[in-house]
Amino acid sequence: AIDAPPPDSPAAAWGSRIGVILAVAGSAVGLGNFLRFPGQAAQNGGGAFMIPYFISLLILGIPLAWVEWTIGRYGGLKGFNSAPGIYASVWRNRFAKYLGALAVLIPLSIYFYYVLIEAWCLGYAIDYLMGNLNLGTDVDAYGDHFNGFVGANENGALFSGKTLYILAATFALNFFLIWRGVDKGIETFCKIAIPAMVVLAVIVLIRVMTLGAPVADAPERDVEAGLGFMWNPDFKALLNGETWLAAAGQIFFSLSVGFGVVINYSSYMKRRDDVALSGLTASSMNEFFEVCLGGMITLPAAFIFLGVSAGTLSTFGLGFNALPNVFAQMPGGQWFGFAWFTMLFLAAVTSSVSMLNPVFAFLEEALQIGRNGAVAVLLVLGILGTGTIAFFSEGLMVLDTVDFWIGTFALFVLALAQVLMYGWAFGIEKGEREMHVGAHIRVPRFVQYLLKYVSPAFLLIVFTAFCVQNLP
Ligand code: PHE
Repeated sequence: AIDAPPPDSPAAAWGSRIGVILAVAGSAVGLGNFLRFPGQAAQNGGGAFMIPYFISLLILGIPLAWVEWTIGRYGGLKGFNSAPGIYASVWRNRFAKYLGALAVLIPLSIYFYYVLIEAWCLGYAIDYLMGNLNLGTDVDAYGDHFNGFVGANENGALFSGKTLYILAATFALNFFLIWRGVDKGIETFCKIAIPAMVVLAVIVLIRVMTLGAPVADAPERDVEAGLGFMWNPDFKALLNGETWLAAAGQIFFSLSVGFGVVINYSSYMKRRDDVALSGLTASSMNEFFEVCLGGMITLPAAFIFLGVSAGTLSTFGLGFNALPNVFAQMPGGQWFGFAWFTMLFLAAVTSSVSMLNPVFAFLEEALQIGRNGAVAVLLVLGILGTGTIAFFSEGLMVLDTVDFWIGTFALFVLALAQVLMYGWAFGIEKGEREMHVGAHIRVPRFVQYLLKYVSPAFLLIVFTAFCVQNLP
């Protein structure tokens, strides 16, 4: 055909070089940065968490991100945008397809519950805008509002009838962006959303940093003490296997690495588009949002108003309870609240579309039913999955259960499989060459050995420890 794509670029493609970086960064920056990270850090002893966290970033997170960018672009040029095809082009083995199926199922399952929390953020943004969240300085009022909002007061479900339309709107936005395509939908949205997120988050950060010690009967709980909670290292915790597990899990979740998400996005790249610097840039942007914005906003705020100490606060408590308390203490709090939840919502949308797109690509490739058909099937799957979680589960516990099995257990399996495929089936010599096609930086050679030996060994050890601790 006349308009067949040139051999060095895939059929669907990003509109610009920065587009794919922003899309991957948008995938990475999400509720994981602003809610899950502070929650994990708080539950694992604050400063104790940060050392395993940064070690995991360096020996797992960034190297694995490079792997995914590299094999994704490689598979994309062979004509595949979804994991089964990409894995099969990297590892010529029947089994590769089945691993690929896992890389489609995991993001889909995460979407099922992630989109719920995303919709809560939209609901809270609207409530702030309408002035429905001016509840004064009674700490409990916000917890009650939250329970009422999600419907937990009525029947234990995760969505009350009155907020259902918000969930529907959230679905509509996600599916619209998928339907528009990676360049016109996802890329365009990320180009607007990410700068907006930086501005909104920095506004809230400045507010938190200038709080002083606002709780009259706890003058010792000031910003510095809150920051100390996060940054004072605790070397004893390095001996705790669970801290390592939590840290590695957070790195994967936050960078969107190990899920089959980055391979999907990078499969729309051209042959000579850089993957080395792009991968590093997207990962760094994520860490900026996570550590500098997510952590330093949420942890001091929670520490000051709720007196958080290790292990006492849930992910939801932080976002939907601690922060509203911060806003209640300040003039114009309504607008800071609006900024915060709008920011959270944007961050969540750029992540949830990245969970849907691999599934969309898979349906399009596997079923050959065209764009509209694939979006329609995906929509049915989404409604069934999210509906089940939202309306048939007893309370918030189910989110932790799903997050555990999908977000931690299945994820470790897939991440390990991916790094082994790269290091041992594809081979690090070929891998290194491929990684440097069109590259603007040189990835140090030792990273290849790290990927072949250290990352899998580290993953295996952490995974074994994890199984021993958590499985019956
Ligand atoms: N990284 C996203 C976040 O931090 C979540 C995510 C997980 C996105 C898995 C895609 C795949 O919120």
